[in-house]
Amino acid sequence: MNNIEESNFSYIKNIFESISNEYDFMNDLMTFNNHSKWKKEIVKIAIDSSPKKILDIATGTGDIAIKLSKIKGAIIDAIDVSDNMLKIAHNKINKLNIDNINLKTCEAENLVFDDNHFDIISIGYGVRNFTNLNKGLSESYRVLKKNGKLIILETSIPENPIIKFLYTLITTIYIPLIAFLFSRKAKAYIYLLNSTKKFPPKNKFLEILNRIGFKKIETRKKLYGASTIYIASK
Ligand SMILES: C[S@@+](CC[C@H](N)C(=O)[O-])C[C@H]1O[C@@H](n2cnc3c(N)ncnc32)[C@H](O)[C@@H]1O
Repeated sequence: MNNIEESNFSYIKNIFESISNEYDFMNDLMTFNNHSKWKKEIVKIAIDSSPKKILDIATGTGDIAIKLSKIKGAIIDAIDVSDNMLKIAHNKINKLNIDNINLKTCEAENLVFDDNHFDIISIGYGVRNFTNLNKGLSESYRVLKKNGKLIILETSIPENPIIKFLYTLITTIYIPLIAFLFSRKAKAYIYLLNSTKKFPPKNKFLEILNRIGFKKIETRKKLYGASTIYIASK
């Protein structure tokens, strides 16, 4: 990592360390409770490949990993850079008596797994936080088996002008307000919103995935384009 990457990385890591306690609650409010439905869709897509080895990158409080753990015979490695987020994931997994998830502190840009190892990789609301998007996605490509699938759920900006206007109102008034009222960490949530604006638009992101080597890329718009599921094969 160079100095700029290093300081961005520390900044992003600290944001998530600071909001871990209320992250799940805020996520429900921010997505009008839709994120859980979209995460279940990730599991449905994954099941089609009868996966045995799954990696959930940027697992946070473990929401997606926990849903994936229901796939029969699958072992899930779940990684994140924030120890506080992982602590919450750990408590949830223990409470539910789940024994097929391995949590690890690890960066998406430096995965500690062998080449061609996983059948499925999932990344929920994680890629836009990567310090180095190309490196993070290239690492996913490296550890994915041939024909394995990368499933990404990420925020996006709606294209329809009316929906975009409503989206702008929600993101500039509603989200900072609830962030202030419920977490007093509006600054952290403003970072999350700004990271959405800085994330490459759909076509550019598809180009990046293509350049890295991913094929057969499919996109599924969610909530009029406020989130998108990307499915890409190696
Ligand atoms: C918005 S949360 C998403 C959590 C969860 N996947 C979900 O869908 O609810 C983003 C997570 O990405 C993690 N993260 C940020 N940069 C990362 C990186 N470079 N490598 C791995 N995890 C990262 C953060 O610590 C945080 O837990």
